[in-house]
Amino acid sequence: MRILSGIQPSGKLHLGNYFGMMRPALELQERGQAFYFIANYHALTSLHDAATLRANTLNVALDFLACGLDPACTIFFRQSDVPEVTELTWLLSVVTPMGLLERCHSYKDKTAKGIAATHGLFAYPVLMAADILSVQADLVPVGRDQKQHVEVARDIAIKFNLEFGEVFKVPTPEIRDSVAVVPGLDGQKMSKSYNNTIELFGSEKETRARVMRVVTDSKGMADPKDPATCNVFQLYRLFASPDQLSAMDARYRAGGMGYGEAKKALFEILWDTLAPFRARREELERNLDFVEQVLLAGAEKARAAARKTLDDARHAVGLT
Ligand code: ADP
Ligand code: TRP
Repeated sequence: MRILSGIQPSGKLHLGNYFGMMRPALELQERGQAFYFIANYHALTSLHDAATLRANTLNVALDFLACGLDPACTIFFRQSDVPEVTELTWLLSVVTPMGLLERCHSYKDKTAKGIAATHGLFAYPVLMAADILSVQADLVPVGRDQKQHVEVARDIAIKFNLEFGEVFKVPTPEIRDSVAVVPGLDGQKMSKSYNNTIELFGSEKETRARVMRVVTDSKGMADPKDPATCNVFQLYRLFASPDQLSAMDARYRAGGMGYGEAKKALFEILWDTLAPFRARREELERNLDFVEQVLLAGAEKARAAARKTLDDARHAVGLT
């Protein structure tokens, strides 16, 4: 089984990225051949600053490796090192109905937030389909907000296969309901565009300050509290063992624990859980050559898979 997922290098990664996309993807590493990549072509739809794009790309590589991506079994690469996907994007574009792209929420959401309405932003799901179809992925682990794009990739694959013969495997999205949406400091979806994130590799001071800013209701220390509606508890549950979770749940319901104390517990469990990741990241920062080698070796393997698919697609449409 082939598993593929990508992440845009558009800023510092936060807990939503980790629990919504990274961790599920890392857990899948053992279930098949994983292809994970840094979607820097996609990032160009919203980021036009070369130095920032370069820095973000390196940071995502470090983050992924620090969090447990195993380059011995997973093919890890930069999207732009596999230029075959851009040619495949064109072959897919000519079978992609405009209506399919017009229905995508992400384009509407992004232009509503002020991102320039370019052709690249509009055609972004076709490039994403090319990423997926180029390696003949079976499974695509993504957060809920990307599910529609994987469905677009399915529709494009089906349409191409119908018109030109069976070239592409039809992929399925995989979403873990238990971690579907990680709430941010204000209780909305955690997202860098809402400035409500807790970074995966923020400094201790910044991380503590952010945890203290998580919005709660105004119940006093003595009052019993409802864990189900509390943002602090929802974040705590991401890190807690079942025993720690039921103990915290009982303390909420019993009353006598203020939100300040719950936040302190959240900070501690978060900071301790991420400690081994931080240590590995610091080590990787001292070994950037190793990181570069991993990415280049990954690109070579991804290119081989993409080349094969592209040749089949070129032949199917009559270019060769
Ligand atoms: P952001 O919303 O911060 O811009 P992205 O859209 O770049 O994040 O998301 C990158 C990946 O992380 C996607 O697969 C997305 O589904 C996942 N993700 C982002 N935020 C969350 C969240 N709050 N909860 C769960 N998954 C998330
Ligand atoms: N569009 C995805 C995001 O913004 C990143 C991405 C690009 C991707 N290509 C992909 C994810 C292919 C899964 C499969 O998060």
